[in-house]
Amino acid sequence: MTQPPAIRVDSVEKRFGEFRAVDDVSFSVEKGSVFGLLGANGAGKSTLIRILCGILAPTNGSARVDGFDVATETEEVKRRIGYMSQRFSLYEDISVIENIRFFGGLYGLSGASLRTAEERTVSLAGLAGEESRITGQLSGGWKQRLALGCAILHEPSVVFLDEPTGGVDPVARRLFWEIIDGLAAAGSTILVTTHYMDEAEFCNSIVLMHAGKIVASGSPQELKREYIRGRVFEIECDDVSLAPALLAKDGRIADASPFGAFLHVTLREGVDAGLVPSLLTGAGVRFGRIEPIRPSLEDVFLHVIEKR
Ligand SMILES: Nc1ncnc2c1ncn2[C@@H]1O[C@H](COP(=O)(O)OP(=O)(O)OP(=O)(O)O)[C@@H](O)[C@H]1O
Ligand SMILES: [Mg+2]
Repeated sequence: MTQPPAIRVDSVEKRFGEFRAVDDVSFSVEKGSVFGLLGANGAGKSTLIRILCGILAPTNGSARVDGFDVATETEEVKRRIGYMSQRFSLYEDISVIENIRFFGGLYGLSGASLRTAEERTVSLAGLAGEESRITGQLSGGWKQRLALGCAILHEPSVVFLDEPTGGVDPVARRLFWEIIDGLAAAGSTILVTTHYMDEAEFCNSIVLMHAGKIVASGSPQELKREYIRGRVFEIECDDVSLAPALLAKDGRIADASPFGAFLHVTLREGVDAGLVPSLLTGAGVRFGRIEPIRPSLEDVFLHVIEKR
């Protein structure tokens, strides 16, 4: 028998007045996996996380976390989850160890169990020897790891991380993801939101939200296979604003989008790669290097969102 999911979301809707911030969302998250909730600003990610943490009641639909209903068994849910909100929840004007003790107290830890949790957190955040530093003086990466440590002091089985890596440098982001991997390997389930597509690649499965709705879902590999079926090329091109519309007119091209200073073009299956230069030349568009590239999740998402 397969294990029940760590998170199960059934047709959840959240309205603020007439506005639907979350619109008929359903998915489930396997125990011990890293699940990415992606989407542009205002897609509804934080609202959904707040519902799953029992902070906000859904207007319609239901959700279970670790088997408990988020609306009717809120206390059971809260005991089992860790939540790192979009704005880190640490107190800036007290020390590292004082923050840890404060959150430990909130979770009802004391005596030996608090001391064990303190040590674990200091080591997870890489802050050994820095326990008396004022939190506000720590760099973004340290603060972020400390905030994560404080959110999981009580060893929750499901962890919600809302944009934990915003504004943090690439080295700290990588370190943070190593910690997430370790937590998942130890059996925790992680639901994380991010705007960084390189981070989305680390997730076992992903849901892409747009204006409250799910518009794509699957593992990174599945999404690339499903949405970028043909081959993708990167083209150095003088006019990345006009060329996409021009190329997209041809039925053999699945997608053409500007990608920074380049053009990313996806050919339908079986189409010869020589098509792109001949179309560009035919239309008088000047171009340079054309290179086949591995599709990234960014390609997938630009493609999915543009189709909306
Ligand atoms: N309490 C509220 N009252 C009214 N509207 C709200 C409320 N909370 C959120 N919204 C709206 O719901 C929509 C979704 O917001 P939400 O914060 O969930 O998006 P998000 O995907 O987390 O975005 P971001 O990437 O910017 O964090 C937004 O349009 C937001 O303005
Ligand atoms: Mg948000």
